[in-house]
Amino acid sequence: MKARAILDTAKALVAGDKGLLAMDESIPTCNRRFAALDIPQTDEARRAYRELIVTTPNLGECISGAILYEQTLHQETRSGIPIVKVLIDAGIIPGIKVDAGARDLAGHPGEKITEGLDGLRERLTQYAQMGARFAKWRAIIVPGDGIPSRGCIEANAQALARYAALCQEAGLVPVVEPEVLMEGDHTLARCAQITEEVLRAVFEQLYLQRVTLEGMILKPNMVVPGLACSAQPNVDEVADATVKCLVQAVPAAVPGIAFLSGGQPSDLASARLNAMNVRFKSRLPWALAFSFARAIQQPALEIWRGEASNVPAAQQALFHRADCNRVARRGEYTAAMENA
Ligand code: 13P
Repeated sequence: MKARAILDTAKALVAGDKGLLAMDESIPTCNRRFAALDIPQTDEARRAYRELIVTTPNLGECISGAILYEQTLHQETRSGIPIVKVLIDAGIIPGIKVDAGARDLAGHPGEKITEGLDGLRERLTQYAQMGARFAKWRAIIVPGDGIPSRGCIEANAQALARYAALCQEAGLVPVVEPEVLMEGDHTLARCAQITEEVLRAVFEQLYLQRVTLEGMILKPNMVVPGLACSAQPNVDEVADATVKCLVQAVPAAVPGIAFLSGGQPSDLASARLNAMNVRFKSRLPWALAFSFARAIQQPALEIWRGEASNVPAAQQALFHRADCNRVARRGEYTAAMENA
């Protein structure tokens, strides 16, 4: 029963041309983004912002699933409707971020390990009872001088795999997110090399932990150079490097790959996703979709700025970004969409 449900949910999350919306920023991360725009960093402001997102008209046309922060799973709209119900009524599958964040990895200066496995089985049971049908865990890999180390890659891959197995046991689809960060001056080739090594380690651990690949979604970074790298490739070069890397490392049984945006400009994230689908869609075993946070939310957040009167315009901007990415899944996105 649970096994069937997992397969159905995983398929539904990447069906057609829809994708995921990550709206699971932790309180500190959300506060940081609010502070940059002078938005009050309060519980109520965060609740109101999440209400703005989930009540965006027609969002379900573009978004198959939304990843919530735990607090949001318990919250309601101003008129008293649970956020989870708003999503379900919009045809959007509720998901939940379940990791407890990244800490410094002992003995590995500059590297991180994601925590949160203790007590996870019990938490997952609760989340499933509250309506969540999928989950997310993010591992962070920092490129730098002599890093990532094998120790860091293996530790994060194993945690991702143990999380994924627990999710499937609880009837939730694990979104497995190993993120190679964009900060730094590493080249495109170096990002490709690290991403491939990380993905190979992750899939080895998923195999060892007996995770059903048909019942998971991979959420990787696109293969891009560091933000401070002097050689910045064009959109097609990023599409080629990313797909080349994924073909080497991701088994065909995985139903879908939903990229994180990682701090790329919103329109560039759409253009790169589009280029991958234009060039490769018909030849790939898995769907190439999106699971963006910043690349969908940022323009809307900048319009909202905490003011109720800005909600309709912010929702329009949010829908626009979700729509651009839906169109990019079909390989039909053009820059003209940004000026319409
Ligand atoms: P970004 O798209 O902003 O990278 O966020 C994706 C995400 O869910 C990070 O865990």
